[in-house]
Amino acid sequence: MVSEHPLVSAARGLPTAHTPVWLMRQAGRILPEYRRVRAMAGDFRTLVNTPELAAEVTIQPVDILGVDAAIIFSDILVVPEAMGLRYEMEESKGPVFPKRIVAPTDLAGLHVAQADELHYVLDAIRLTKKEINGRVPLIGFAGAPWTIFSYMVEGGGSKTFSQAKKMLYTQPAFSHALLEMITESTINYLKGQILAGADIVQIFDSWAGILSPAQYAEFSLKYIGRICDAIDSVPTIVFAKGAFFARGEMNKMKCQVVGLDWNMDIVESRNLIPGKVLQGNLDPCALYGSLQDVKAETKKMIDAFGPHRHIANLGHGLYPDIEVDKVRCFVDTVKEYSASLR
Ligand code: CP3
Repeated sequence: MVSEHPLVSAARGLPTAHTPVWLMRQAGRILPEYRRVRAMAGDFRTLVNTPELAAEVTIQPVDILGVDAAIIFSDILVVPEAMGLRYEMEESKGPVFPKRIVAPTDLAGLHVAQADELHYVLDAIRLTKKEINGRVPLIGFAGAPWTIFSYMVEGGGSKTFSQAKKMLYTQPAFSHALLEMITESTINYLKGQILAGADIVQIFDSWAGILSPAQYAEFSLKYIGRICDAIDSVPTIVFAKGAFFARGEMNKMKCQVVGLDWNMDIVESRNLIPGKVLQGNLDPCALYGSLQDVKAETKKMIDAFGPHRHIANLGHGLYPDIEVDKVRCFVDTVKEYSASLR
């Protein structure tokens, strides 16, 4: 039974035989097997839009790395696309929106997305669940409304996100209207993922750290809270990169797990977020060290979190040039060392 798997049990705060472990961006360019399927697909969009291929790369890290969960292979940008704003993935640049949202009149071209508009992700989830056959649970995900908003307004990535922040300062009512639409779309989408078989869902607020605490409360946390309130059939993980200042508020949210990045001190976070299971938070760059260093850093992390109410992960996604051996060492050390502490 998947519901008895360590990741789902730990997310519910129950004791487990070892600390469950998975990695953000575990399905991706670090794996030659991924690069092969990606080359066969031709481009990123085709990979995401073809359920058979998406399911294949979703399962690869379970077989190759021995992680305790699969995360459905997709992208957070499928939601703005379903709302009416198509994304492109440029080979060396990352995601780009040829058309961006700049004025209230642009809302006319958008709509609240329904889950079936993202049928290709739901099909990939159903197929993955069938192929994975209960070995590990499947994590569904979506971007937080603020992070999606910033891509829609900037038209792509940015160092400062100054255009997105400008919108919050100069057009707060319009900003809220767009954030509302993204929130409703995200709730529909996550509910669809859960119906299709996702055992747990994670909300990625990758650009949380760009906002002031007051703006974060008004333009991000409020909407993440609405999403958490709407989901009660599976555990929810909230990962807000850089939002160290919001940890007290996170403790009040209706989610089961809070993800930490590597800037957040573990003991301090336990004190600020006593009501939640914590996930994280090794610096991905620690995996550039020797195998011996990776082992030592991983043990240090496990010691700081303690043996329970923890899901081991990195503090953000894997970088493409991290060696597979180092990742396997991280996974094996979490499992073996945490089991030895029981
Ligand atoms: O293994 C997994 O984590 C599941 C797959 C996954 C991808 N994107 C695949 C992907 C997940 C969970 C995401 C989420 C995502 N996408 C986020 C939130 C998490 C985070 O990293 O903060 C964000 C901000 C995006 C937007 C995005 N997609 C960017 C900025 C990029 C370019 C950066 C890069 O690594 O090239 C992408 C592309 C992307 N999404 C890749 C993968 C595997 C790399 C593209 C490729 O394979 O060619």
